[in-house]
Amino acid sequence: MAEPRGRVLLADPRGYCAGVDRAVVAVERALEIHGAPVYVRKQIVHNKHVVATLERRGAVFVEETDEVPEGAVVVFSAHGVSPAVKAEAEQRSLRTIDATCPLVSKVHMEAKRFAKDDYDILLIGHRGHEEVEGTMGEAPSNTQLVDGAEDIANVQVRDPEKVVWLSQTTLSVDETLATVDSLKTRFPGLQSPPSDDICYATQNRQQAVKQMAAECDLVLVVGSTNSSNSVRLVEVALEAGARDSHLVDFASEVDEAWLDGVGTVGVTSGASVPEILVSEVLDWLAARGYADVETVEAAEERLVFALPHELKPRREALA
Ligand code: F3S
Repeated sequence: MAEPRGRVLLADPRGYCAGVDRAVVAVERALEIHGAPVYVRKQIVHNKHVVATLERRGAVFVEETDEVPEGAVVVFSAHGVSPAVKAEAEQRSLRTIDATCPLVSKVHMEAKRFAKDDYDILLIGHRGHEEVEGTMGEAPSNTQLVDGAEDIANVQVRDPEKVVWLSQTTLSVDETLATVDSLKTRFPGLQSPPSDDICYATQNRQQAVKQMAAECDLVLVVGSTNSSNSVRLVEVALEAGARDSHLVDFASEVDEAWLDGVGTVGVTSGASVPEILVSEVLDWLAARGYADVETVEAAEERLVFALPHELKPRREALA
């Protein structure tokens, strides 16, 4: 047993959200029903461990649907796809299962609705992120991406009274509100989305980190570098007063040197991270004198999404 060196504050909620859980189960069910291989366009969720585990079970991850053999089963990832991708899959007779998170689909619906009313849409998000590409694809000629100060200064709209902002679901809440404030100084008539686009899971995980960060010398965020919400948690931790913060995929990536002079370690994980990876980090810390774990609770989450309709048993099958 290692000499006690300090304590751990464990964020709650952390890890899997309802949309990620649904997407991972969708691939597992597709493999059960159709057998391997089941193709998945892009990483089903942005987590190395999850992707490697599903690969071992027979999932084949591809970048685009043209890599999928005609007529095969393909799952669309939790981040969503543009109508052009759906059309291409249909043209190639692919059997599609759409695991887009319902909260991403909600933003797609908003984009479609505002485009139909001929609004200019300012989509706040990260250039190149799959979710952003999917949402922009719903209304490409009405939508402009706002990713940073340069875009805020450069966007042009046709009618300043007919402009709305929407956002990626996994952004920093505070940073997005600051972006909206800056956009409003250019377009005072800027309208807001009918409800929050930043999803409940992103907001709750950021809130838990904010609650504990000021007490932490170090915050470890378990998550992959391509996971937007995980990367945001590191930023939120530092902004909220943590002395140091790092993103790690696995316990083996934690550097012993980060623990120098550290009394309190905060631990959390992104929305695409299975709990086993957090447990391994906690074990790693316990073995180095940080065995005392206290939970910091920010919200209770009960949301569960039904599986994609392509995976539900047909009515006649139940009769
Ligand atoms: Fe959906 Fe939010 Fe998770 S958009 S996939 S519930 S991070």
